[in-house]
Amino acid sequence: MADRYLSFTGTTPGRFLTRRLGLPQPTALHRWSAEHPSFTGELLHLSAGKSPLDGPDGLAAVLGRTGLAVRARSERPVAVVLDATGVTDIDTLAEVHAALHPVVRSVARSGRVIVLGAPLDTTDHHQAAVQQALEGFVRSLGKEIGRGITVTLLRLTEANAAESTLRFLLSPKSAYVSGQVIGIGGGAEVTAPADWALPLAGRTALVTGAARGIGEAVAATLARDGARVVCLDVPGAAVELDSVAGRLGGTALPLDITAPDAGARILAALPSGGLDVLVHNAGITRDRRLVNMAVERWSSVLDVNLASVLRTTDALLSAGGLATGGRIVATASIAGLAGNAGQTNYAASKAGVAGLVRALAPNAAAEHGVTVNAVAPGFIETKMTAAVPLFIREAGRRMNSLGQGGLPVDVAETTAWLAHPASGGVNGQVVRVCGQSLLGA
Ligand SMILES: NC(=O)c1ccc[n+]([C@@H]2O[C@H](COP(=O)([O-])OP(=O)(O)OC[C@H]3O[C@@H](n4cnc5c(N)ncnc54)[C@H](O)[C@@H]3O)[C@@H](O)[C@H]2O)c1
Repeated sequence: MADRYLSFTGTTPGRFLTRRLGLPQPTALHRWSAEHPSFTGELLHLSAGKSPLDGPDGLAAVLGRTGLAVRARSERPVAVVLDATGVTDIDTLAEVHAALHPVVRSVARSGRVIVLGAPLDTTDHHQAAVQQALEGFVRSLGKEIGRGITVTLLRLTEANAAESTLRFLLSPKSAYVSGQVIGIGGGAEVTAPADWALPLAGRTALVTGAARGIGEAVAATLARDGARVVCLDVPGAAVELDSVAGRLGGTALPLDITAPDAGARILAALPSGGLDVLVHNAGITRDRRLVNMAVERWSSVLDVNLASVLRTTDALLSAGGLATGGRIVATASIAGLAGNAGQTNYAASKAGVAGLVRALAPNAAAEHGVTVNAVAPGFIETKMTAAVPLFIREAGRRMNSLGQGGLPVDVAETTAWLAHPASGGVNGQVVRVCGQSLLGA
C-alpha cells in the first residue's frame, strides 16, 4: 500500500536519479500532527480591486487569528491570500496577474495560495466574466505551481463566515485539497467554538463504515476534535469496529446500513440529545463494464452508496435526530463527477450523492439549521485502492497536481472542517479531496 516511489524521491540518491531521468518529483506533503499542528511563518496578504471585505472586523482581522504573521510583503511566504473579491472588470482582473506574478516562485514548499472571489453577479456580465475567469486561473496555477503547494478559490461575501474555512485552508489539514472552488454564504448559523483546538467538544458524531479505511480516519479525527463518536459498520466487521470505537472512547454500532429499519435503529442507539454530525462514509464498489454487469452488482452498489444515504438522512431529519446546528457530510467520489470505465453503478451512486447534497442543503438549513455537504475523494491509499492492479494504481497516484495519492486522513480533515460549528456558511458544497486529479478536472 505504501507509495515507495514517493519515499525514494525523498532520499538524496532518489532525488538525483529522478532529476537525471526527468521523472516526476512529488513533494512529501506537510500534514497535521500533534507536534506540528499549524504552519509557522508569514502570510502574504494581497488584493486586486477595491475589496468589500476591508473594515475593522473584516478579512485582516480573520487572517490575524490564523496564527501566521500577516504581511503586505514577504520574501518567503508560507501562504499567499489574494483578495480578488473587488475584481469587477478586465482592468481589476489584470491586478491579479500583477499581484501574483512576482511572488508565486517564492511561496514555501507545501505552502498555500488562496484566491478570494465574489459570487457571480448575474445582473452584471462583466463582473460575472472576470469572477468566472478566476476559476480558470486558479485551476491552471494549481497544475503548474508544483512543490506541494495547493491553490484554492474561495467565494465569499463576508469574512467572519469564512473563518473556519480559512483556518482549514491555511493549515496542514488541507494538504491534499487543491484546484477547488468553494462557496461560502447563505447556509446555517455560524458558531465560533469556545476552543478552536476542540471544536466538536460536547458534540456527538456518527460515522458509517468506521471499521477501517477512510471511515476509521474520520472517526479518529472527529474524536481528536472533541466529538463523542458512534462508529457504525456491518456486523461482520464487529471485531475491528469494537477496536476502533474502544481506542477512540466511542461506541460501536454493528449494523448493515442497508437494513430497512437502519434509521430507527440508529435513533434508538443515540444519546438523548441526538446527533450533531452524521457522516455517510460506508461505500462499496462492484466494478464491471455495463455489458457485463449483472443486476446484483448494480443494485448492491446503489443500495449501499445512495439509497441507504437517502433513507437514513430522511429518517433522522424527520424524527428530529439531528440537532439544530447539525452537519451532514456524505461521501461522493471523483468517479461520480467525471465518470470512470467499469463503474457505471458506482459513478451513478456517487453522482447521486452530489445531487442529494445540492438539493437538500438549502431546505435542511432552512428547516433544521443543518448543513449538508459532500467530500469527493480522489485516489486515496486504502485497502480499496491497494486492490487496484499495479499499473492503474500507479497512474491513479501520479495523475494529479501533487503527484501522489491522498491518505485517509486527508478526507477526514476535510470532513472535520465541514463538521465544524463555525462552518455553518458552507452548505451544498461537493469538495474534492484529490490533489487536483486530472480525472474530471
Ligand atoms: N479509497 C478511495 O480512493 C476512495 C475514492 C473515492 C471515494 N471513496 C469512498 O470513500 C468511502 C470509504 O472508502 P474506503 O476506501 O475507506 O473503503 P473501505 O472498503 O476500506 O471501507 C468501507 C467501509 O464501509 C463498510 N460498509 C460497506 N457496506 C456497508 C454497509 N452496508 N453497512 C455498513 N457499513 C458498510 C465496510 O465494511 C468498510 O468498513 C466509500 O464511500 C468510498 O466509495 C474512496
